[in-house]
Amino acid sequence: MSGQRTTTRYGTWCLGYLIYRVIYNVFFHPLAKIQGPIAWSATRLPFIYSLLRGTLIHDVEKLHRKYGPVIRIAPDEVTFAQAEAYPDIFLSQKDSKAFLKDHVWWETQPGLPDTILSAINPEKHAHIRRLLAPGFTTRALRDQEPILHQYVNLLVDRLRDCCRGTEAAQIDLVPWLNFTTFDIIGDLGFGDSFNCLQDSRYHPWTALLFSTVKAATWVASARYYPLVESILLKCIPSSLMKTQTDHYQRIADKVDRRLNFEVERPDVLSHVIKKLEEEPLPIGEINSTFMILTTAGSETTATLLTGIMNYLVNCPDKLNILVNEIRHKFGRQGDITLDALRDLPYLNAVINEERWLSEVRSDPTSPFSKDRDEAVQPFSLGPRSCLGQNLAMAELRLIIAKLLWTFDFEPVTELPPNTD
Ligand code: HEM
Repeated sequence: MSGQRTTTRYGTWCLGYLIYRVIYNVFFHPLAKIQGPIAWSATRLPFIYSLLRGTLIHDVEKLHRKYGPVIRIAPDEVTFAQAEAYPDIFLSQKDSKAFLKDHVWWETQPGLPDTILSAINPEKHAHIRRLLAPGFTTRALRDQEPILHQYVNLLVDRLRDCCRGTEAAQIDLVPWLNFTTFDIIGDLGFGDSFNCLQDSRYHPWTALLFSTVKAATWVASARYYPLVESILLKCIPSSLMKTQTDHYQRIADKVDRRLNFEVERPDVLSHVIKKLEEEPLPIGEINSTFMILTTAGSETTATLLTGIMNYLVNCPDKLNILVNEIRHKFGRQGDITLDALRDLPYLNAVINEERWLSEVRSDPTSPFSKDRDEAVQPFSLGPRSCLGQNLAMAELRLIIAKLLWTFDFEPVTELPPNTD
């Protein structure tokens, strides 16, 4: 009986505390005056629900349209849909403290090595970034260009194979774009391609990555509630832990092999090796950072390429303009170089969003004429902005140009079975 009474008392206490928190969050919290839906301001749960459904970005956009440019999307979180917010948040301001990354999203599990993305301490982050940065300069990219051509040419060859003997092949481009960007980052990162293009299938490491990225939203959601997080961590089956360790180990082995290479090659690790003596970094942090690099430098670019190709095939008039620009500029496929692609106006407009073409911006009847380009920062800004943006732009230009130079594309209504 007394056990039952204690449980009831505990339940009443919890309910009381919950009601108190909700009232406090909605009416008395320092952010209470900021606009936003009451349910989102009262508890973190609507945010988590939206995050786990994969609709957070769209939901937040809808909320901005309804409530304005500054809204509260959780008891302690505010989002901004204003160009000025980028420099305010990401560039350090004189006389004010820099905003640090959110621990919930970025911090590694206790005991695991830091990476360039997870290092929250600015000095620690700057140290890792200094080591990697020489591998991402425009000069480094020039040396890496032959490696890019090698894989994009292989992509074209593999797609040609798929078209052989038929007038119009139906191909799901998504895996092929991922194969290409994964192979490139494997080779450019640590001199060891994943051979996805060669084998026409995802390497087990890359296949596993997709489920890891999905699992990351669950981990982040649990982190908002430390008790839930600790229970979740205790419940992870040992088989899953082993999969995670193997995933890490495969990259660690590749890094280890590369560290013992005698050959001079222009990959990112070669630049790190040159600086290691002057700026030492524990091997665990090198491995983990290269694991992050492999993720940050592949799926991102492939996803953007997928979006671009999808829009293009569904807007044949725009596709035509771009094809004409590319085929007019290059007589032979071998003439396509990064230098020659850098200033192609329509290609760049397609990548950066076409609304930025000068004729569109200067047309007062265009719905985009008042748009501000500084509000679009896909690579972010400041000391933690994307280190691989030159490489990403180079890959995007080269892959689109070589595909459109070689093939005629149109949408298919029925997808072929998965190549995975
Ligand atoms: C279209 C493709 C890409 C997009 C849209 C993109 C976007 C971003 C963004 C928004 C960040 C900042 C994340 C944060 O707030 O911490 C970032 C960071 C980073 N990206 Fe990219 N990225 C792309 C491709 C690449 C490529 C190809 C690489 C090459 C390996 C790369 C390497 C990195 C690295 C190393 C960081 C961490 C920088 C730091 O924390 O100092 N990214 N990227």
